[in-house]
Amino acid sequence: MKQSSLHVAIIMDGNGRWATDLGLPRALGHRAGAEALRRVVEAAPDLGVSTLTAYAFSADNWQRPQEEVDALMHLLAWYLEDETPRMLADGVRLSVIGRRDRLPPRLLEAIRAGEAMTRACTKIHLRLAIDYSAREAILRASQSFGGGTITREAFEQLLGQENPVDLLIRTGGEQRLSDFLLWECAYAELFFTRVMWPEYGAMDLRLALDQFRKRERRFGTVPDAKARPASQERWLH
Ligand code: FPP
Repeated sequence: MKQSSLHVAIIMDGNGRWATDLGLPRALGHRAGAEALRRVVEAAPDLGVSTLTAYAFSADNWQRPQEEVDALMHLLAWYLEDETPRMLADGVRLSVIGRRDRLPPRLLEAIRAGEAMTRACTKIHLRLAIDYSAREAILRASQSFGGGTITREAFEQLLGQENPVDLLIRTGGEQRLSDFLLWECAYAELFFTRVMWPEYGAMDLRLALDQFRKRERRFGTVPDAKARPASQERWLH
């Protein structure tokens, strides 16, 4: 059965290496990465994705050279300012997850405007993670709880999780989570690809989703003999 309300999370890795390999400044890799995100958001609803969470800037990314941090902050503000009218027209609801208190005013204003203008959009929910750390998010949710016993559902509300991640994609050839959605990915299927993020597009997303749909998700239970693919090798890539 084709599940058509998937939550896909993407670690958009490889911008810097892509640019360096072409003899370009890293900032141009991030610029091309922003274009790739635009392509993927456009393609995602028709591929059955209802929520897309993309890792744009981690809490640890502040440790990059100041020039690169400035370029990323500028690019994020530009992207949101430029993209908000299109998101509104295309039915894309924008949310930003992560800390806000360290972001520059122009970016904060772009986030505020983007979230407010697209609030009623329903075609796809784009969640951009900016100054995000999953461990910090879990700590903050714990601290905001008054005490006593808490249910998993209540904790997930404090965490701001609306639905768990079904598929986590990481581009750029690395195979790690980098402090992204650690709770939400408890039963996510993982998909790693060598494609550098600036070159990623609709066909790559389709391939990842095709692989995902061939996997049997057991959530800790025993295999369903009827649902199991003939060979486990079909799950590997
Ligand atoms: C990882 O590539 C990517 C980032 C740290 C930032 C992700 C940002 C973008 C995709 C562009 C900006 C996004 C928007 C929405 C405007 P890397 O720099 O770590 O690449 P490397 O591993 O090759 O060095």
